[in-house]
Amino acid sequence: MSFMASMELTSEQQELKKKVRAFVEEHVIPVAKYYDETGEFPLPVIKEAAKIGLLCTVVPKEYGGLGVDALSAAIISEELGRGCAGIATTIGGNSLSSYAVLIGGSSEQKRKWCQYLLDGKLASFALTEPGAGSDAGSVQTTAVLDGNEYVINGSKCFITTGGYASIYTVIASTDTSKGVKGLSAFIVEAEREGIFVGKHENKMGIRASNTVELMFKNVRVPKENLIGKEGEGFKLAMQTLDSGRINQAAMAVGLSQAALEAVVDFVNGQQRGGKLLAKSQYIQFKVADMCMAVETCRNMVYKVCYLKDSGQHFSKEAAIAKAYCTDTAMWVASEAVDIFGIYGYMKDSPVEKLYRDVKVMQIYEGTNQVQRIVIANNVLR
Ligand code: CAA
Repeated sequence: MSFMASMELTSEQQELKKKVRAFVEEHVIPVAKYYDETGEFPLPVIKEAAKIGLLCTVVPKEYGGLGVDALSAAIISEELGRGCAGIATTIGGNSLSSYAVLIGGSSEQKRKWCQYLLDGKLASFALTEPGAGSDAGSVQTTAVLDGNEYVINGSKCFITTGGYASIYTVIASTDTSKGVKGLSAFIVEAEREGIFVGKHENKMGIRASNTVELMFKNVRVPKENLIGKEGEGFKLAMQTLDSGRINQAAMAVGLSQAALEAVVDFVNGQQRGGKLLAKSQYIQFKVADMCMAVETCRNMVYKVCYLKDSGQHFSKEAAIAKAYCTDTAMWVASEAVDIFGIYGYMKDSPVEKLYRDVKVMQIYEGTNQVQRIVIANNVLR
């Protein structure tokens, strides 16, 4: 299929978009403010998401899941991002943490992993450490082979859903003398002895998502839990992030769309000097600029999905989409607050939460500076 043809959503994708939008309207938007204010974990919403298969979208059809393509995954992320970025981040975590298994795992590992998601369980991707954020290759957690088991020791931080996940993908070093080439990826079940959940982060935004520190103290996993071979962990982590960044970009499009819709409602309902705000050319130009930004970003996401779905290299384009769409979403959210004026700064306004939620998108799944490194490496190669 050509790129132009792929821009047209199939009837299946249109149905999926409608289904996720209906879920968001019924189960996410009405409670988003509550979870933002309380910082509680939205378990009831997650249970509803599980009922319609949103926790296992990446599970291949042969393992009983939806086996969605990249564009369908992006549509889901966009719709969830339009409703609540915190809940979207939680649900998206199940895809992010699955990519390493789906790319490098054996069929037995895939079957076991996928069953967790099919059962409505949550999963986490445990890569980041205090000294290995942007410099992901500096992971200090170790996994030492002892008989038929690996023994894992170390600390991970800022782990999304870490306190609620039933299963983790953990990146650890099996050979500290080899640096990046000594990193390996493991499936680690949360119930294993020696796993402790540490500090729960109190965040500025995406407060419905759970972000914690995870400690591994002599955690024993069977050697069958190694994904692929020793030394393949960094590559699997990078491939994971390539795909995750597309979903991140799509989520940012959804948040921008929410900001645009809030502005449209606001300017159509507010008079200034006896004139509807929507009739002011100043406002019209601002709305047009926001609309251009949202459309451009959505097209960019569709383009990278096309590359992935047609089996082409998409690392550079995923980084471009992640950086551009999240930077743009930051701008769109800021414009929305400006248009609302002082009302936009108030907790009652629909745009205040968007403005706080969007900031992290420029930071997580690789800061937008890291995306520029990835882009430059690909261009200058
Ligand atoms: N696919 C396959 N292989 C890749 C790859 C990719 N996308 N990127 C790099 N590699 C390979 C390279 O080919 C190289 O292998 P060879 O030596 O065999 O050629 C090896 O990996 C090392 O590559 P680099 O030299 O480019 O690696 P680097 O150490 O310079 O890393 C970096 C560069 C891009 C900055 C990387 O460290 C990075 O992406 N950092 C950001 C980490 C990140 O995004 N963390 C987010 C955590 S998850 C999260 O935030 C989720 C959440 O909570 C919601």
